[in-house]
Amino acid sequence: MGRKKTVIVVEKEKLIKSKREKFQNVRGMRDILPNDQPYWQKVRKIAEKVAQDYGYQRIDTPIVELKNLFEKGTGPGTDIVEKEMFVFKTKGGDNVCLRPEGTPSVVRSYIQHGMKSLPKPVKLFYIGPMYRYERPQDGRYREMFQFGFEVFGEKDPILDAQLIQIANRIFKGIGIKKFSFQLNSIGCEECRPSYRKLLISYLNNRKNALCMDCKKRLKKNPLRVLDCKEEKCQQVISQAPQMIDHLCTNCKKHFTFLLECLDELEIQFTINPHLVRGLDYYTKTVFEIWSEEDAGQIALGGGGRYDKLVEFLGGASTPAVGFACGMDRIVAEMKKREVKINCLNQPKIFLVQLGDLAKKKSLRIFEQLESSGISVAESFGKGNLRSQLRQANQMKVDFVLIIGQREALDETIILKDMNSGSQEVITFSKVVSELKKRLKRLAEEKLNNSGKRNIRNLEGFAKSSLLKAGKMTNKMKKS
Ligand code: HAM
Repeated sequence: MGRKKTVIVVEKEKLIKSKREKFQNVRGMRDILPNDQPYWQKVRKIAEKVAQDYGYQRIDTPIVELKNLFEKGTGPGTDIVEKEMFVFKTKGGDNVCLRPEGTPSVVRSYIQHGMKSLPKPVKLFYIGPMYRYERPQDGRYREMFQFGFEVFGEKDPILDAQLIQIANRIFKGIGIKKFSFQLNSIGCEECRPSYRKLLISYLNNRKNALCMDCKKRLKKNPLRVLDCKEEKCQQVISQAPQMIDHLCTNCKKHFTFLLECLDELEIQFTINPHLVRGLDYYTKTVFEIWSEEDAGQIALGGGGRYDKLVEFLGGASTPAVGFACGMDRIVAEMKKREVKINCLNQPKIFLVQLGDLAKKKSLRIFEQLESSGISVAESFGKGNLRSQLRQANQMKVDFVLIIGQREALDETIILKDMNSGSQEVITFSKVVSELKKRLKRLAEEKLNNSGKRNIRNLEGFAKSSLLKAGKMTNKMKKS
């Protein structure tokens, strides 16, 4: 009896506790709230538009893949594979993981679906979540979003240049003006082994001056010592032999042509001999996009050539190159730099209703407007005129439509122009055409005003240029 009572009490306590339990998101994973959506929408829209303009086709691969795809593709000694994969077993016994990056998945799909028979180059574009079990901090999440571009079937460095051009277009389009391209070549299987030996011998002689991690890296992946951020290692790294001084003729030609293309495009870049990237598959070109302020602590994007990966994962020998950008980091950068966001779908009209009949009629009017492409806001749950008008004011709409009891009976609507304050009564049947007319007029007025502003700016610019030119000639005359 006593035991039964205790069990009941324990169960009750459990129930109370579970009722009080507050659920939180999983560590390192975040909600993207409505206020932030315009930023994400802008990044997505621009990346998609540029992908389309440059002839890339969208590909979506599953979030769950076989674990050994990344063990082999990304590389067994990389941080991603060693420490960061979300791994689990399916009920059927398959060892799978949440994809930590997009490249091996796209390569798998390229091979699996025989895309080698498609006209070359095959250009693929993706957007989606990736998962890495990293220590969560600013700019480092366990669920993060990337967009990526991958090109298959061309070994010409012009493709490397075009990808950098694409990244440049996207960042400028988003409104991030200050960023830098960091570039390096890490050679190929012909020239890298001898450089590797040289580097190992250099680092072995200075082993004691390296941090613990680099001592381990020296054994497994000595090239990665080069991008260690530890102050202790910086001194050693700064004097280390550099890959670009030891490239074979072919790699040197490839890198030189890439740099010439970027010069031609007037894209600024920095040759960074310490940039090696943390993934095993790269050959020749590697690059990263850095925010100017953070100087590489958190890269906004990165990529490079991976001419051997398709063959390594079981396909025919196919050169390839690509890059991916971290959307979470791009959005953070946009906010930091106060990039302007145009809320394209911001409604210009608010529909106010008063009384039950008006409420019912409003549903129909709302549908008519929305299906005619006129974006309209409402607050159907509210019945009070003041609170609805306050909301319309907060949304800075240009027009308010009001349906009261009388209007609902007459099938009319009060149209209030929020800019001029004027109002008039129109019939239900005219509401769409009248609003279209007024919205068009408003858009034309806005365009005219911005045109006038631009002309005023130009005049100002011309005046100040003339003034500057005058000052210069005076200076030159004096000297
Ligand atoms: P990655 O450098 O590992 O390259 O990642 C690309 C970008 O994803 C990074 O530059 C960063 O912006 C973002 N990122 C990476 N990890 C995180 C994280 N934990 N939290 C937030 N953002 C992060 C790749 O993934 C390669 N697949 C790129 C590539 C494509 N190479 C050739 N083709």
